[in-house]
Amino acid sequence: MLAKIFRLSMLVGLLAVIDSRQIGAQETRETNGFRGLPVESPQLSNPSIEKNVDALLEQMTLEEKIGQLVQYSAGTPTGPGTGRSDYQDMIAQGQVGSLFNLPDASAANRYQRAAVEKSRLHIPLLFGLDVIHGYYTTFPVPLGMASTWDPEIVEKSARIAAQEASANGVRWVFSPMVDISRDPRWGRIIEGAGEDPYLGSVLARAYVRGYQGKSLAAPDSVAACPKHFVGYGAAEGGRDYNSTEISEHTLREVYLPPFYAALDEGAATIMSAFNTLGGVPSTANPFTLTEILRKEWKFPGLAVSDWTSVRELIGHGVANDGETAAYRAFTAGLNMDMESNLYHEDLLALVKKGKVSQAQIDEAVRHVLRVKFALGLFDNPYTDEKRAVTGPLPQESLDATRTAAERSLVLLKNDSIGSRHLLPLGSETHTVAVIGPFADDAGQMLGSWGGRGDRRNAVTLRMALTQRLGADHVKYEKAGDIMTATEEQIAAAVSAAHSADAVILALGEDAPRMTGEAASRTHLDLPGQQEELLEKVTATGKPVILVLFSGRPLTLDWAFAHVPAVIEAWYPGLQAGPALVRTLFGESVPSGKLVVSWPRSVGQIPVYYNALSTGRPAGNVDLTHPAREGTPQFVAEKYVSRYIDEVNAPEFPFGFGLSYTEFRYSRPEVSTAKLSAKVLSEDLRARKSDAKELLTVSANVTNSGALAAEEVVELYVRLTGTSVAEPVRALKGFQRISLAPGETKEVTFGLSPEAFALWDIQNVHKVEPCKVTIWVSPDSTRGESVDLEIGE
Ligand code: NOJ
Repeated sequence: MLAKIFRLSMLVGLLAVIDSRQIGAQETRETNGFRGLPVESPQLSNPSIEKNVDALLEQMTLEEKIGQLVQYSAGTPTGPGTGRSDYQDMIAQGQVGSLFNLPDASAANRYQRAAVEKSRLHIPLLFGLDVIHGYYTTFPVPLGMASTWDPEIVEKSARIAAQEASANGVRWVFSPMVDISRDPRWGRIIEGAGEDPYLGSVLARAYVRGYQGKSLAAPDSVAACPKHFVGYGAAEGGRDYNSTEISEHTLREVYLPPFYAALDEGAATIMSAFNTLGGVPSTANPFTLTEILRKEWKFPGLAVSDWTSVRELIGHGVANDGETAAYRAFTAGLNMDMESNLYHEDLLALVKKGKVSQAQIDEAVRHVLRVKFALGLFDNPYTDEKRAVTGPLPQESLDATRTAAERSLVLLKNDSIGSRHLLPLGSETHTVAVIGPFADDAGQMLGSWGGRGDRRNAVTLRMALTQRLGADHVKYEKAGDIMTATEEQIAAAVSAAHSADAVILALGEDAPRMTGEAASRTHLDLPGQQEELLEKVTATGKPVILVLFSGRPLTLDWAFAHVPAVIEAWYPGLQAGPALVRTLFGESVPSGKLVVSWPRSVGQIPVYYNALSTGRPAGNVDLTHPAREGTPQFVAEKYVSRYIDEVNAPEFPFGFGLSYTEFRYSRPEVSTAKLSAKVLSEDLRARKSDAKELLTVSANVTNSGALAAEEVVELYVRLTGTSVAEPVRALKGFQRISLAPGETKEVTFGLSPEAFALWDIQNVHKVEPCKVTIWVSPDSTRGESVDLEIGE
């Protein structure tokens, strides 16, 4: 009965909210224009570029204009294809604006000569490529890069990638992927920065700075392309390419911010996504591509489709033929057609029929030409082939990728064995057994999208251990493959474990096949016989360290209960072995932290830290068993937001990662206890630099252990009393600090109005009067808090 009343009252409440939101949204559109600020893109919005674009547009025929909106993948053996491959002719006739997937600088120069020397107006081509975590110097996969919580190393990785890619003819990288994802079933979670919009935004900016350098026109700069606009990471059920349903509120609070950040940092291009959003394919969505991108954000750059996603409008069911697909994508605001060949086939006819205007075509071409001018392609169309990077890597690049790998490692568990923790391994470790399909597989270290990375440059765990300890002290057993192992292979591994002082088990999922695009999983366990291998090796009683290679968290409840030490290594890149060995032996102290909540079971997904409280939070209810019928607390235990067969909390929370030392945090202090919503909202509109109300929050962090180490200090905020429910915690700042043993540092955060801003019940961006709780903490669940009030 009680439950029924609760349910009824909830339904009435819900209807009231839906109603007021709809009314509110309409009112706002007419009366209040503030929807966020235009992005700053000075390199593209520049009067001299505009003059050049105008002059060129004047001379172009309609066919030549349409040519600028067409892009092909040159020489790709896979994919649906277009039937067009005579690029030299097509380019000479001005029918191509961009090519991607070229093998090297000489191929790029060959095609560029056709464009510059043979086409009537000599408009250069723009060459693109998927440079995702390095070009030749392969860095950790993006999820690993994000786990460093280190914008500087992210920026450096992008700079190195830009230098190498541009030397090989590439001036446009399809990166960074800034899709927020709360679902590790989705294989592409590996390509992004995880579940948090704030961290995602900070890192998006770092990537753009690294790729684009100080000036886009420098020959070693490349145009960045944040993707996939927008909501792709919310694919239903984690199944790739699947539909998404995201409210406008959540879109604005969670999924849009990293795109905004990347464009506001000057990213010159953007790529549309494969998914539908509320029934509208992102490649033909006027709300996102025109209302938000052009009208609100005033983005001056180029919007390209994803691979054949214009043609896929037919698959979505919003077009029955190619012409309608081209019409829908183009008029929604999509400028360049990647690989569908439909703009080439149909745009001319659409203009002739009066369905698309010449002015619309001009506007789209303008976006493309601006980028080409900003990159300096008209002055310097060719790549200096002598710059091509193929040989041995410079030490600086190797050091950068090793540092990134070390910082990306997340220590998940480190039990005490006797009087000390298992890790780091001490001098008593003379002989190690290194076991598993990832122990000596250089190709796997490159991850799912290693670009032009060369496995011959990758150093494995086995190689690095051998170098450190000598071959006689390293017992290697591959123990089968990722998907298969025989009983004999497992037995050999067990016997190797018996003969060693410590065992390193290198297990995980197959990078190219099980992570990345089109690699969604419903079972997040170890594939093949690896679980059996793990359990049998652990049963030897030897000190076992599990090193996981994966593109997502894996649900390994047995491992977390029984294996004494676990490191999540992601796919660390070329310097995997040295980074891991230095960490195992304590020359590098782990400091990576999770950027995704780590589920205990697949049934918990989506589980993410910045969730809403619900009206019936589980609070302190013991969730480890079903509510006990017949007890006084039955209703309180049962009718809360919970599972009856699983705890609510993830295995490891967002922001979590152990060190070899301990850190103590003091309660944070704030510089003022009262702020004004009105002033903060004004500051928000005037952008941070003019902010009048700036708050500082400080806490002392002490290294109470015996080793010098780095720590990522995290700042979270919760707002209550607001017109919409806000997350139980939201990251609004972080700092990576280093502390000597015994040292205490005061860590101070300056908070801008953005930290307190929300998209309100009318989807207006502002600060509302509310109560604020602030934590400075080592992860998203711990730490003491301080309160303050934002008044009228
Ligand atoms: C499809 C992927 O979704 C996208 O991320 C990539 O940039 C394009 N293919 C081009 O290769």
